[in-house]
Amino acid sequence: MTIRKAVFPVAGLGTRFLPATKAVPKEMLPIVDRPLIQYAVDEALEAGIETMIFVTGRGKMAIEDHFDLAYELERTQADRGKSVAALEGTRLTPGNAIFIRQQEPRGLGHAIWCARDVIGDEPFAIILPDEFMVGQPGAGCMKQMVDAYDRTGGNLICALEVPIEDTPSYGVLDPGTRDGTLTEVKGLVEKPAKGTAPSNLIVAGRYILQPEVMDLLATQEAGAGGEVQLTDSMAKLIGKQPFHGVTFDGERYDCGSKLGFAQANFALSCRDAAMGDELKRWAKALL
Ligand code: G1P
Repeated sequence: MTIRKAVFPVAGLGTRFLPATKAVPKEMLPIVDRPLIQYAVDEALEAGIETMIFVTGRGKMAIEDHFDLAYELERTQADRGKSVAALEGTRLTPGNAIFIRQQEPRGLGHAIWCARDVIGDEPFAIILPDEFMVGQPGAGCMKQMVDAYDRTGGNLICALEVPIEDTPSYGVLDPGTRDGTLTEVKGLVEKPAKGTAPSNLIVAGRYILQPEVMDLLATQEAGAGGEVQLTDSMAKLIGKQPFHGVTFDGERYDCGSKLGFAQANFALSCRDAAMGDELKRWAKALL
């Protein structure tokens, strides 16, 4: 069954970026000139996904506005004879952008469960926008996963190697047999205590899951950090349904951290046709 729907959990408070995120959702922070959430939506569109489901919270209206028609802006630009090309891709097909409120910060698992009625009885994708993945044109992370899903079915997560000391911040895989870019998942643990991680392969913010995970989330007890963890419900599917990790061929920036965010901005700015060369010259001189 094709993957038609993607869930974007965007209710988080973004406290690591305060005061920038006091009045602006963290997903609206730009990498060069596009907000993080737009890269995430573009990645889903490239993978053939049609319906974008945003699980939001209070103070996140800017995301809804971003994907709407900006009538005054477009009209004013048109009256001045100016281009609105930069807005291309920001207006989603009517009916294909759905916004759901999470109400309480009860964890990623709870956020995903909030989308259960819209997901219904079909497999779906999840994209965490602050995991910023850059692939070759036409071969973004979700596209690579959808291609893998055509072969495997079942459940897929993007699996990525990190230094072992970083594993307590993530969901971590207990890996089985490896076959090219696919790794069998034998177990999953959310935010393992230091020194207890089963590997250095983490769940890197991209998922294709079967709808049964919603039933498990409905009764999932709070786990790491006192939150309802998606990882804990996914772990219960292992052995019942196929479960694989996919190695992403591309770059990953952890834009939930200031360092990753700065690196993403620098890397993409260096490749920008209009300013890249000058920026690199300036950066060399600066350093
Ligand atoms: C979440 C997931 C975790 C995953 C991580 C990726 O954690 O719970 O399994 O590895 O995203 O960034 P969070 O960053 O919300 O603590």
